[in-house]
Amino acid sequence: MQGIITIDGPSASGKTSVAKLVAQRLGIPYISSGLLYRAVALMCLLENVSAEEIEHKLGKYRLELRPTPTQNLVFLDGHEVSAALHSLEVDQIVSAVAVRPAIRQYVNDVLRRIPPPFVVDGRDMGSTVFPQAQHKFYLTASPEVRARRRVPERDAAFETVLAEIIRRDQADQQQSAPARDAIILDTSHLDLDGVVRAVLEHIAPSS
Ligand code: DC
Repeated sequence: MQGIITIDGPSASGKTSVAKLVAQRLGIPYISSGLLYRAVALMCLLENVSAEEIEHKLGKYRLELRPTPTQNLVFLDGHEVSAALHSLEVDQIVSAVAVRPAIRQYVNDVLRRIPPPFVVDGRDMGSTVFPQAQHKFYLTASPEVRARRRVPERDAAFETVLAEIIRRDQADQQQSAPARDAIILDTSHLDLDGVVRAVLEHIAPSS
């Protein structure tokens, strides 16, 4: 397996968990591109500036993503910041960051420097960043199903998480269209293992 496999979808569609397990099964690294947008959102919090203002300060930070077999480590100027990337504060500003073309270009450049093979998850991995990928998937599920899955990862009530997911779906719409050649999988009625099996079956069909 020398290539790139893209797994895109809306927030909390399970794409990172699926990407991680598919990559493990194939024995290749996985990359979660949303972490890089989250790292830029963290830069805004650290600098106390808006998404617009951080565009002019991107050169100040060395942003690096290192895949390990079990997780992605993100470094800002050599300091590991991975644990700070999944707070509600980051959730709330990351869409404003991700909508800015100069920031998307910056993140895409970091991603394109990573040597294949890998499985990468995001919004526009198959459509924009890696149009040459061998296999492209797009995961969907209803907002309610996604909120239920995300509640245990956040210290927040179901209604709060659901409202945040609906808001983010709208904010991320622009960069979230599936690639024309992506396989679309509705995961509302599948568990994690079922989605992973469906993806692997498309990559290497059993006879
Ligand atoms: O997948 P995630 O929830 O960690 O993504 C965080 C944010 O980054 C999300 O609001 C959408 C944005 N994002 C994006 O616009 N493009 C990507 N390829 C990945 C994430």
